[in-house]
Amino acid sequence: MSGEIENVLQEHRRFPPAADFAAEARLSSEEAYQRMLRESLDEPELFWGRVARELPWMQPFERVLDWSKRPVAQWFVGGKLNVSVACLDRHVNSVRSGKRAIVFEGEPGDRRTLTYQELHQEVCRFANALKARGIKKGDRVAIYLPMVPEAAIAMLACARIGAAHSVVFGGFSAPALRERILDGGCTAVITADGSWRRGLVQPLKAQVDEALSSCPDVHSVFVVQRAKNEVVWSARRDVWWHDAVALVSAECEPEPMDSEDLLFLLYTSGSTGKPKGIVHTTAGYLVGTYLTSQFVFDLRDEDVYWCTADVGWVTGHSYVVYGPLSNGATVVMYEGAPNTPHFGRFWEIIERHKVTIFYTAPTAIRSFMRWGDEHPKKFDLSSLRLLGSVGEPINPEAWIWYHQIIGQGRCPIVDTWWQTETGSIMITPLPGLTTTKPGSATRPFFGVDAAIVDEHGNELGPNQGGFLVIRRPWPSMLRGIWGDMQRYVDTYWKKFEGRFYFAGDGARRDEDGYFWIVGRIDDVIKVSGHRFSTMEVESALVSHAAVVEAAVVGRPDNITGQSIVAFITLGPGFKPSSELRADIDKHVIHEIGKVARPAEIRFTEALPKTRSGKIMRRLLRDIAAGIETVGDTSTIEDYTVLAKLRAYED
Ligand code: WTA
Repeated sequence: MSGEIENVLQEHRRFPPAADFAAEARLSSEEAYQRMLRESLDEPELFWGRVARELPWMQPFERVLDWSKRPVAQWFVGGKLNVSVACLDRHVNSVRSGKRAIVFEGEPGDRRTLTYQELHQEVCRFANALKARGIKKGDRVAIYLPMVPEAAIAMLACARIGAAHSVVFGGFSAPALRERILDGGCTAVITADGSWRRGLVQPLKAQVDEALSSCPDVHSVFVVQRAKNEVVWSARRDVWWHDAVALVSAECEPEPMDSEDLLFLLYTSGSTGKPKGIVHTTAGYLVGTYLTSQFVFDLRDEDVYWCTADVGWVTGHSYVVYGPLSNGATVVMYEGAPNTPHFGRFWEIIERHKVTIFYTAPTAIRSFMRWGDEHPKKFDLSSLRLLGSVGEPINPEAWIWYHQIIGQGRCPIVDTWWQTETGSIMITPLPGLTTTKPGSATRPFFGVDAAIVDEHGNELGPNQGGFLVIRRPWPSMLRGIWGDMQRYVDTYWKKFEGRFYFAGDGARRDEDGYFWIVGRIDDVIKVSGHRFSTMEVESALVSHAAVVEAAVVGRPDNITGQSIVAFITLGPGFKPSSELRADIDKHVIHEIGKVARPAEIRFTEALPKTRSGKIMRRLLRDIAAGIETVGDTSTIEDYTVLAKLRAYED
């Protein structure tokens, strides 16, 4: 393995923190940082216990960590609290009551602001609306909404009554939504009539209707009126959000939740087909997102903070909703596309709302670069003081562009490595303290014992590529995979015999101890920062009547990081044609959604396989990328297949 990950990046530029930023920073001396880091690793119970006590408990915890049921950790054992109280009531009962919590801008240009007090009332109302339909502690509720304030309200309302939410990204199609509703055993769905995307209405309610045709346990669907498009209505099952909240009180007692009670499920792709319902619980998740928001984004009361992620992904959970709100921050939310109605939409939003902290993904940064510097240059970006990046490795070229054009050479960049499974940021610079290197997520956060190891779990030396592992539990770690604890053990713990958490990423650590993540080493493709398993796309492909076999690989892409290339073989009687290709494309979109659509579909007579019948993905990856194969091909069954794959035109 260590020889497999080539280390091609030679990046020597250094960006020490600016003196004025450092002067105000939470941590600006290496000694203070080392002291805090040492405590977090040597005395984690002391460290995390102190952080946790900053949050409002209904009943104090008795023990900070119980790791006796490994690999399932229990944090803050015996404590009771409610996440919505930490995010809302705490601020409403303080000087922050009239402070803006959410500043929303819709794609068509509509705007709405909710203060902490108003958000609190909306959350309580909707929590009562959920209760009125019989939804209670322990239930699971699917949320399939655009980026509108109701998404955050719905999540917090579920948390308030102790129901777990399962947010499904609005770009997923009906079958993908159905699969997640069924797997999670959801009994209610919260959606909208439609959402705005690039000037068009995406009919969300229609997708829900299709998904629910075979979800007998769903008794209620709450519908936000957003786009005012036509919807089909089931009087028994459907209820308009505005009707549901009209008749209920704006007060709702928060449910006391055990530290380890389920807070949410979030589905993510692994290397096998079925999406995994990642389990996050109450207190540990809150503590992790709370502390990282504070230290990584240096959140202050005056900040206007904008994380562009959709709530359908973990970044939207941790750094649009729970992390910033538990810190009492002002959060910007934008519904639509970055290039609608013009290519400067994001920069216009930053100028209008005087955004100070901006957190986005490398794929977006690369699009901005391609669209041209003239767009950001038209707007006043002088309010910005900190930039963040997440979701995939950021190439140094994009880092430098982000630093110069958006940050105007002034703003530190925090390149944050973490995962749906980790719940909160794990490897990251601390602004004002860490000297950054373009392309490196730098050093582990407090309490994170990250290492690079070889196949046998031995720690590797500087600049040796290997597997990224975490060697001890942390509060916001996943507690399992919903309904499949064995898969949890197999996916994350088996590789190193239960000793380490296996992240599935390849990485190296340089001579300064900085981590350089090189990407996934399993069959997960990251398109625009979103994880897809090759298996999931393959099963969508083979469910088309004409397709007998499919292999999907990732191809490097200048904008989206990777794009999906599908190799397919057709059944008897089917001939390659552009019509058939279009039909297969349509089929995948119907099954999963546009997000997982292959950029290219290639027909082939057969797929290259080893003698044991395993598809040789490495070869397919090279072919997809247009690289000549130089590796060992002696295990290939039919050499002619290779030549044909390369040559095949429809
Ligand atoms: C990748 C997103 C390099 C990585 C929060 C990880 C990154 C996967 C970075 C998790 C980064 C995320 N540098 N790679 N700063 N951040 N990744 O679950 O491969 O959508 O395992 O969580 O994204 O993706 P997920």
